[in-house]
Amino acid sequence: MNQKSIYHELINKYGSPLYAYDEQILRDHCKKIKDFKNYLEDNLGEIKVNMHYSTKANNNPAILKIVGQYGINVDCMSPLELSLNQKCGFTRDKILYVCNNIDAEEMKLVHDAGVLICLDSISQVEIWGQNFPNTDIMIRVNPGIQGVGHNDKVITSGKSTKFGITEKSFRELFKIIKKYNLNIIGIHQHLGSLFLNDKIQDYINGVRRGLDIILNNFENIKIIDLGGGFGVPYKDESDLNFETLQEALINELKDFTNKYKSVREFKFEPGRYIPCEAGFLIGKINAVKYENDTYWIGTDIGMNQLVRPSMYEAYHKIELIENRQSELIKANVCGNICESGDILAKDRSINKPNIGDEILVYNAGAYGYSMASNYTGRLRPAEVMFNAENNWLIRKRETIEDLEKNIIW
Ligand SMILES: Cc1ncc(COP(=O)(O)O)c(C=O)c1O
Repeated sequence: MNQKSIYHELINKYGSPLYAYDEQILRDHCKKIKDFKNYLEDNLGEIKVNMHYSTKANNNPAILKIVGQYGINVDCMSPLELSLNQKCGFTRDKILYVCNNIDAEEMKLVHDAGVLICLDSISQVEIWGQNFPNTDIMIRVNPGIQGVGHNDKVITSGKSTKFGITEKSFRELFKIIKKYNLNIIGIHQHLGSLFLNDKIQDYINGVRRGLDIILNNFENIKIIDLGGGFGVPYKDESDLNFETLQEALINELKDFTNKYKSVREFKFEPGRYIPCEAGFLIGKINAVKYENDTYWIGTDIGMNQLVRPSMYEAYHKIELIENRQSELIKANVCGNICESGDILAKDRSINKPNIGDEILVYNAGAYGYSMASNYTGRLRPAEVMFNAENNWLIRKRETIEDLEKNIIW
């Protein structure tokens, strides 16, 4: 069976639209992350390196369980993600709660679960201190320099981001720490999401900046968390070169640990890198029209199923599953939501399709299903996993009853 006929088989069996994850690709990416961890650990002597898969990228338990098989830990940022992590067998020492703007009740949940929390503003530290004095915490800093990310909305360092505590606020921070006898055991920074080879140096500069901040301001830090951001190519870029990244990183980390002796562990939080390329979104073409000198291809993949193109103007490669020998057209490929912004691909070259043709969207494994919604009452799709021999459902398609069940009529 050729690769494309697998998608045809899956959509026939499970319905449309459908998220499908290739188990082998997922495992290959987990292995890359594991190798990266091992390389750093081998070169850092006694210091541990832990990878925490960022659950927000894709929280399906089937994915979380595979991640766990590679010795990769998790980070989470909501009660549901925490619960999924726990149910997938991650013990409290393997979970990190990296949150922002949460209330005391949610903090209590994290505290009672015995999970380390990373707090990202002075007022959050104050609330934590009032409720849980004499405890260990991590702090998220904003290193102040422009972060790395594929879109302004996912740049998480610098002047225009809501995240982190900047150096200017450290004096105030230390007062609160003292008042509640809190112990900052770790410092966290996350520069942004999706850097590739052309931004490795920017990422390293950000790391250097973060490490300098620790050196100049904090004593006795045990854990340094350098966040996620590891990118995958969506268009025709090259794969992230881990050899280049790890060699550049190790120099910074060694240099730092020679000067700063209390560090016991480095953490990283790769999200997208792990499931992105394993995920495919498969849908159907319901309409084709030519209006205002433009071809419009209407699919059942709306912005509620995959929001990245409309939210970040993100590029996703798309293809007809059937190899049509029809004329190549430039078209806007859109979904079935009543919004002009509901566009999956703009001005895209594609073979002119027939109604009923199936369409494949690549790189849908990260920030795909996890950002899906029920806007305009659309049901979220099913999710399946497949490998060379088999395929199986890992989340059922939603039903109208699912969505109606919380309504008080
Ligand atoms: C704190 C934190 N860690 C890790 C990640 C994962 O980032 P990525 O998927 O780019 O690796 C994110 C994503 O925005 C994040 O906010």
